[in-house]
Amino acid sequence: MEVYEALTLLRDKAARDVALRKSLLETRHSRTPLSDFCRISMQAGVELYEMDLLSAGEDYYAAMRRSTNGGGENSPLLVGEDDYYELFLEELAVMEKNGRKLAGEELMVRGRRTRTRIVMPPIATYLSTEDGKVTEPMLSYYGARAKNKNVGIVVTEHSFIAVAGKAKARQLSISSDEDIEGLHSLVDVIHEGGALAIAQLNHAGSAAPSEVTEGKAVSASSVILPTHPMMGDGTAPLEMDQAMINETVHAFAAAAVRAKAAGYDGAEIHSAHAYLLNQFYSPLTNHRTDEYGGSLENRLRIHREVLEAVRGAVGEDFILSVRLGGCDYMDGGSTIDDSVYAAKVLEEYGADMISLSGGMCRYTRTGHDEAGYFQDMSKAVRATVSIPVLLTGGVKTLSDAEDLLADGAADLIGVGRELMKDPCWG
Ligand SMILES: Cc1cc2nc3c(=O)[nH]c(=O)nc-3n(C[C@H](O)[C@H](O)[C@H](O)COP(=O)(O)O)c2cc1C
Repeated sequence: MEVYEALTLLRDKAARDVALRKSLLETRHSRTPLSDFCRISMQAGVELYEMDLLSAGEDYYAAMRRSTNGGGENSPLLVGEDDYYELFLEELAVMEKNGRKLAGEELMVRGRRTRTRIVMPPIATYLSTEDGKVTEPMLSYYGARAKNKNVGIVVTEHSFIAVAGKAKARQLSISSDEDIEGLHSLVDVIHEGGALAIAQLNHAGSAAPSEVTEGKAVSASSVILPTHPMMGDGTAPLEMDQAMINETVHAFAAAAVRAKAAGYDGAEIHSAHAYLLNQFYSPLTNHRTDEYGGSLENRLRIHREVLEAVRGAVGEDFILSVRLGGCDYMDGGSTIDDSVYAAKVLEEYGADMISLSGGMCRYTRTGHDEAGYFQDMSKAVRATVSIPVLLTGGVKTLSDAEDLLADGAADLIGVGRELMKDPCWG
């Protein structure tokens, strides 16, 4: 009923006010859930179209045609003008009948449609073979979760792009062309389940233990991680020189090409949880004085290079996400203001979505276990960028996710440990 009340009100107002009608359509945003402002504004448009199209003016008509015929990626009504009113009414009726909620809304990201707003974020299973190949237990694990109709996107666990950046034994590999075949089977089970598949690409930097990589760990600076005792081998890493940085940027691009060859819908660049790109981002681990250190812009230079190299290598038809450990929540560490600035520039550098999590504090936050415990950051970021923002952390139920979406905390909600425990979650 609320929707109808709002519609009537809006329709009556818009009937008298051309500027309002225009702004209703213009305010439509690619991230807006269908059941939210978009539906209301579309309805206002449809009603007006029926009432008196000509008096609404040509500009308005053109705007409406654009928005109903694919001008907005997330338009519910990507059909010809003759059918859209009926389709709209059908959608509205279904919504009323099922009590369809925000979490069940579709979203378009770089031309690909997710069936819901719920994301299974990367969770390392370490079910791979010794050298990082996909196994049968892994296929069953991902297949069972992708089948869950509440899940729109599955981001597979962090995969090492080069052995020098391998975080643990039995971590999934995307470092060699020989990995592509196994990854293809992984993508197939995810697609069969109906979810989009995104590969998380990672270089662990100083968190790569020498007993795993058989080499000396590298990082932005020769600094031991101020974090988790289980990360790395406790020795100071080598500071990366320009050649090492170039090689790493190249390795990200090569891994993304493998992800595309394996059929993934996109790749996520891991810059959270104290791994290499996060080590460049955080002032706690980046003490460089060259163009990769100091200002935030400099600390994000490698991100820019990675995004540009990856986009150049995979082309336009591929989602690029960045998992940003936006705030360290530690003295002297990165801040929420940094995350806002970073998200904005990452959008400019070509990211299609931003997945927010912790930096040096990793994926939990001391003193917080409420649903959406990084929402102070996600709200600030979402207010600044126009690409979809994914918030993960502490969500236990679908109604937690609904509440966060309704509150504008994010466009997508990640559900990690609950889906890990129960593939039929929700
Ligand atoms: C066992 C485990 C493994 C994880 N592996 C990854 C990973 O590979 N990449 C990543 O970005 N985050 C990883 N995370 C963090 C999750 O993606 C998620 O951010 C975290 O579990 C918080 O969300 P939740 O409260 O819904 O579980 C992992 C978390 C857990 C518990």
